[in-house]
Amino acid sequence: MDKIVIASNNKHKIKEFKEMISNYEILSLNDIEFNGDIVEDGNSFEENALIKARTIHNYLKEKGLNYLVMADDSGLCCDALDGAPGIYSARYSEEHNDQANRDKLINDLKNKEKDAYFNCTIVLYYPDDTYKTFVGKTYGFIIEEERGKTDFGYDPIFYSKDLNKTFGEASEEEKNSVSHRGRALKEMLKEL
Ligand code: IMP
Repeated sequence: MDKIVIASNNKHKIKEFKEMISNYEILSLNDIEFNGDIVEDGNSFEENALIKARTIHNYLKEKGLNYLVMADDSGLCCDALDGAPGIYSARYSEEHNDQANRDKLINDLKNKEKDAYFNCTIVLYYPDDTYKTFVGKTYGFIIEEERGKTDFGYDPIFYSKDLNKTFGEASEEEKNSVSHRGRALKEMLKEL
C-alpha cells in the first residue's frame, strides 16, 4: 500500500484523516520520527500548509524516502471580524487553549452578526517537488452557549447550516460528511 505522511501529530486530525482515506497507509510525524519544530509564519492557510508540507518533504528526501506528503491548515473565519480568527484560530486568546479561544470569540461577536465558516486548505506534495492545493469550506454561525460533547476547537459553538446542530453535537460521521476537512479531502482524493 502506498504511503502518505500527514504533516501533523494532532490526534483529532490524524483520526479524521484515517477515517476518510482507506487506500493509503497514513503515517504521522511520530511514525517518521520527525521531532523538529515547524514555524508556521505564513500569511494565509495555503502558505502555512505549504511550509509544513515542504519541510516534511525535505526531511524525507534527506532520508531517501519518496512518500507523498499532505499538510493542512485550517481555521474559523467570521465575517463580522474581517475573517478573524482565521490563521490565528489556535492562538486567538492569550491562553492559546480551546476554551479560552471560544470565550474570546463569543465576547468579540457580542452584538455583531454571527455568520462564520471553517476553511481547510490541503497541500499535497509530490516526491518530484511539485504540489497541488485543495480547499474545503463549511458554513454556519456562532452560538453563545456551548452544545455537545466534543470540545475540539470551536466545535461546541459552531452551528452547522448543513447539519442543523453544532459540530460538538454531531457524530464523527456526520461531521466528516460536511466538514471543511472532509470537503477538501474529497477534492484531494479525486486527484490521487
Ligand atoms: P489547524 O491549523 O488545522 O491545526 O487548526 C487551527 C485551529 O483551528 C484549531 O486549533 C482549532 O481551534 C480550529 N479548528 C480547525 N478545524 C476545526 C474543527 O474541525 N473544529 C473546531 N475547530 C477547528
